[in-house]
Amino acid sequence: MRIEGTSEIETNMTEAAQKEPLVLFMPSGKRGRFPVGTPVLDAARKLGVYVESVCGGRATCGRCQIEVQEGNFAKHKIVSSNDHISDKGPKEERYEKIRGLPDGRRLSCSAQILGDLVIDVPQDTVINAQVVRKAATDRVIERNAAVQLCYVEVDEPDMHKPLGDLDRLKVMLEKDWGWKDLLIAPHLIPQVQAILRKGNWAVTAAIHRDMDSSRPFIVGLWPGLKNEAYGVACDIGSTTIAMHLVSLLSGRIAASSGASNPQIRFGEDLMSRVSYVMMNPDGREAMTKAVREAVNGLIGKVCAEGEVDRHDILDMVFVANPIMHHLFLGIDPTELGQAPFALAVSGALQYWAHELDIDVNRGARLYMLPCIAGHVGADAAGATLSEGPYRQDKMMLLVDVGTNAEIVLGNKDRVVAASSPTGPAFEGAEISSGQRAAPGAIERVRIDPVTLEPRFRVIGVEKWSDEEGFAEAAAGVGVTGICGSAIIEIVAEMYLSGIISEDGVVDGAMAAKSPRIIPNGRTFSYLLHDGEPRITVTQNDIRAIQLAKAALYAGIKLLMEKQGVDHVDTIRFAGAFGSFIDPKYAMVLGLIPDCDLDDVKAVGNAAGTGALMALLNRGHRREIEQTVSKIEKIETALESKFQEHFVNAMAMPNKVDSFPKLSTVVTLPERKVSSDDGEGGGRRRRRSRE
Ligand code: FES
Repeated sequence: MRIEGTSEIETNMTEAAQKEPLVLFMPSGKRGRFPVGTPVLDAARKLGVYVESVCGGRATCGRCQIEVQEGNFAKHKIVSSNDHISDKGPKEERYEKIRGLPDGRRLSCSAQILGDLVIDVPQDTVINAQVVRKAATDRVIERNAAVQLCYVEVDEPDMHKPLGDLDRLKVMLEKDWGWKDLLIAPHLIPQVQAILRKGNWAVTAAIHRDMDSSRPFIVGLWPGLKNEAYGVACDIGSTTIAMHLVSLLSGRIAASSGASNPQIRFGEDLMSRVSYVMMNPDGREAMTKAVREAVNGLIGKVCAEGEVDRHDILDMVFVANPIMHHLFLGIDPTELGQAPFALAVSGALQYWAHELDIDVNRGARLYMLPCIAGHVGADAAGATLSEGPYRQDKMMLLVDVGTNAEIVLGNKDRVVAASSPTGPAFEGAEISSGQRAAPGAIERVRIDPVTLEPRFRVIGVEKWSDEEGFAEAAAGVGVTGICGSAIIEIVAEMYLSGIISEDGVVDGAMAAKSPRIIPNGRTFSYLLHDGEPRITVTQNDIRAIQLAKAALYAGIKLLMEKQGVDHVDTIRFAGAFGSFIDPKYAMVLGLIPDCDLDDVKAVGNAAGTGALMALLNRGHRREIEQTVSKIEKIETALESKFQEHFVNAMAMPNKVDSFPKLSTVVTLPERKVSSDDGEGGGRRRRRSRE
């Protein structure tokens, strides 16, 4: 085989090599020359093109399907045709008769190369033409799972050859599949003989190998051909546990679901759960048990949805914030509740799933991504793997907003990370009318800058509150409170309409202009909804948001200083919160630094996507382990400039930083005179569209 190089090299090819057909694999673009008669699967293997195979080329599993692209591919100097591939042989015909082959599909283990070919490796190379495996995002994850199914036919016992049944199985796994030095999960040892006999000496072994340097393990064994194995990617959040059930062979997501983290009953936020552990002798055990039960329950749910037997789950990848990470693994998180926030373990971890009481296949393995720092967990590592700041030239800011914001900033040269104590304000807590995102919660708000009248939308109702039919539509769910993402918008709109100053003070003088500005003790509130309940935004609410956003921005600013940059090129909001906030309002409020709004994106559960990547491709495990080991962690509490950045970030959008890109799309209010204005007292500035 010759791997094709540049055109100059091609000109120098020997005549003999020229005669060998040229084969190009799509979509990878890898190509090479192979002797006539080479099975297409062998050619793919030699070029490192991923084509699945369970039966080892016996034309029985149907996993190795490909398609010939016909036509003149001038760019590649290839004329490809179905005449350049061998006709279906008896084995392939037998498979087609029994299982069926979609039109144009061939089994690459049987089809041989006869001439130049362009071969398409469909991303749904699976039986029944299942859907393309795409992550929660639209990316296709190259597959290189840690678990591989290998079908073998084992020699029957022979009185003259005293080798044990298991040993003969290992011999065949080495002969047919190249597995050397195989270990076996101990629970399988007593079952080997029965399984071999049940399968009439034909069995499928599941081989697990995570690292190339580690010895491979037989983790599962079935009589006959076993043609499917599943994996689970799971993100344990403080509030929600999210899970994907995925085919390890095709990468198809069989089901995705979520469940509440039952630990909420021990404490809403992370620190209260750490306190619970400290105060209660059995607190850690109770919380570990609760989260593991919830994970088991969720596995049951995704398996029912995907019609999968939970015992077909052979590999699992988890991500979690540091405290959930510790509690799930059965580690006391007390040290994480106080400086220096020491993790019991920060590196990636591997377990047998049953060691953590997870009820799946007894041989299933479990991989936990590494944690970045005491408050920047394996979930942030997952998000980093998913969004890949370290793969880019551009300076990317990755923010996961929660009670503790996890912040990662970097590019291919250097990545830094920190967490910032934003508190629960962004989740609707500490806000007088705050509530979790649920039907009836206000999620969008606009305030008329002239009349100061608001209009809003609530979750579960399509219409805006000023549209005809809103009252009827909202009658079912009511207007019950403000959800965390909306509070960003409300405060930003209050600022844009002049109700609050850049220092966040509700301007009492506005009461003369609008009945919506109402006195509340020594301060003023804004009446957002005069109904039952009455929903107001108080001065305290605004302060809580200012404190939270200032903490986040100060953390970001520290990282920008570490990187020596005064702006970022792209911003990624991870997590549920990020999916609901409008980047424009986040910037008006000064939650994030100035950036082209087109380069600010919500990426959903990026941590879960990272777990999925590590599940489907073990190479991603090494990638994130190496990346995390190089990430520089910054402890915001120890940085002297944090306080200064924090104070500046209390103003809207910021007392010292400018937002030129935001100003091209939003007219920010005139800066009002303030006695402690660090820019020379009465200087007024206006940023506008021009
Ligand atoms: Fe199993 Fe081709 S490898 S059918």
